[in-house]
Amino acid sequence: MKNDFSSLKELHEYYAVNNNCKLKNIATQPVYEITPPSSGIVFIGEAPGKNEDLQGKPFVGAAGKFLDQLLKGIGFTRNDVYVSNTVKYRPPENRDPTDLEKDSCRVWLNAELLFIQPKVIVPLGKHALARFVPDTAITVVHGNPYSHPSGIPIFPMYHPAAALYNPNLREVLQKDFEKLKEFLNKGGKLLENSIEDSSGFSKQSKQDIDELLKL
Ligand code: URA
Repeated sequence: MKNDFSSLKELHEYYAVNNNCKLKNIATQPVYEITPPSSGIVFIGEAPGKNEDLQGKPFVGAAGKFLDQLLKGIGFTRNDVYVSNTVKYRPPENRDPTDLEKDSCRVWLNAELLFIQPKVIVPLGKHALARFVPDTAITVVHGNPYSHPSGIPIFPMYHPAAALYNPNLREVLQKDFEKLKEFLNKGGKLLENSIEDSSGFSKQSKQDIDELLKL
């Protein structure tokens, strides 16, 4: 995996050429951000929708507006955080990305994470969650920090778009954002095996972050 980039812009420009995701033939453009987060928080969504595809920026549609509100609620703006997706191109009709599409963008996302070295990774929804904490459900793990063999805590949340369809989830997300803030205020550190980890992830041996994120 190439990862000797001097900026995120350079990284994205490289992987936008060097990826074999079939969606690139039908999408308007790849969707990404180019500024590392001052807060160290990285959110990872599913895949771009129509507005993102047109603007080339993640979470600029209705789900993005709600994400902005949630961030405001804990004293952050979008400029303080970094937002990415498991897949960089819009799937047609906003269908779920396939395993093949997710795999095609896997190295790209790994390279981003290696470049940024986040303080915490927040997977939004099941697709991003499965990338970091396999064999579990967002309904079970949302709003809690999980240890990951890379040493970077994973703090899963529902996808903001889910709350647009199910208003009950608005409050759940607001509470989970509060919990994220509290976690970070306490230093954002997890003791090994200090929390219940239904995925078994925390029991894996520690490996080098580069090796893990290359997977
Ligand atoms: N939903 C996502 O998962 N990603 C986006 O960028 C926008 C909506």
